[in-house]
Amino acid sequence: MSTLSTVPAPAFQEPAPTPVSLLLLGRGADPRSERGVECPGDLPPASDPDLVARAEAAKAELGDRLFVLGHHYQRDEVIRFADVTGDSFKLAQQAAARPEAEFIVFCGVHFMAESADILTSDAQRVILPDLAAGCSMADMATAEQVERCWERLEDLGIAERVVPVSYMNSSADIKAFTGRHGGTICTSSNAKRALEWAFGKGEAVLFLPDQHLGRNTAVRDMGYSLADCVVYNPHRPNGGLTDDELRNAKMILWRGHCSVHGRFTPECVDEVRERIPGVNVLVHPECRHEVVEKADYVGSTERIITLLNEAEPGSAWAIGTELNLVKRLAAEHPDKQIAFLDKSICYCSTMNRIDLPHLVWALEALAEGRVPNVIEVDADTAHYARVALEQMLALP
Ligand code: 13P
Ligand code: SF4
Repeated sequence: MSTLSTVPAPAFQEPAPTPVSLLLLGRGADPRSERGVECPGDLPPASDPDLVARAEAAKAELGDRLFVLGHHYQRDEVIRFADVTGDSFKLAQQAAARPEAEFIVFCGVHFMAESADILTSDAQRVILPDLAAGCSMADMATAEQVERCWERLEDLGIAERVVPVSYMNSSADIKAFTGRHGGTICTSSNAKRALEWAFGKGEAVLFLPDQHLGRNTAVRDMGYSLADCVVYNPHRPNGGLTDDELRNAKMILWRGHCSVHGRFTPECVDEVRERIPGVNVLVHPECRHEVVEKADYVGSTERIITLLNEAEPGSAWAIGTELNLVKRLAAEHPDKQIAFLDKSICYCSTMNRIDLPHLVWALEALAEGRVPNVIEVDADTAHYARVALEQMLALP
């Protein structure tokens, strides 16, 4: 007789619906997440020929009450309205340095606006023109997962000698976790200084959430070996690591990555070197280690811009970072040959959520006395996240 018939069939469980990652611009809302938001009132159509004039008029009306920050990956149509452009580090510094601005409109992504809210006074309001502008890398580390990882380190008796270092590209919850446990935030322009500081304080680092920035900085810039690094996978039991692997690691890297920079491969580097003899390959440290190893230069968006400004006329460059920035650099440097490292296009879809209609919609609302899309971090989270962010701003 078959034993199968005696085993009760497991109760069928309806699989959880796959969350919709992108909703149409300004249409539809998901109350449980930042993935979508209605824009009350009328979102101007992208084809409206008056959008530029409308943005200019609303900006002029708001005057010094308004401060617009723009990350380098923003579209040209948006970045032209930024009072300051920068990488994540510069934008965090700038947000903290403008106590007189009543409204900070952040043309970037959600984690950047959260950091601006944490670093500004209670009287200031930070506005993200489209709340669906999140970051898939930041979403790869949730507070619950990170707490579970830390408990594992505590159970092993090693948490006391591990210092958390979290990339700016993380939620306020992760930044607060970092502050609570004596760590620091870093960006791609100060990751080495952050790791030096952390290794002066402890014996190992838990690096969240970008494994690539952590590995590239430790191995390429600081002389650690690949064997010093392990990858903690929050989707596997015990992070997919044995007790000894965790005990012996210098760098415990969270298994997160940027889907935009993850597209660049070592083959892209080989191919561009064949196509453009003498080309300088310049990539962002969110790229995979194998890509960074093959590149000539590695740097944050701000560093990429500086290197291009300093480059010899006639020199050739292949750049591995988000396409809005690469296209802008190519337009600004007609005396240099500037190519995109990948053959297929590679925009950051969430950065691109901030478009001119959303910016106009937000600015006009402010000018009319409404404050839309406020990013507000709760007081307890903000307190500990500020501790970690201020530690970053104070790094030697
Ligand atoms: P930086 O501008 O700090 O180099 O960061 C790049 C990035 O991916 C932001 O999302
Ligand atoms: Fe996030 Fe990558 Fe987009 Fe930056 S470029 S916002 S890390 S998905």
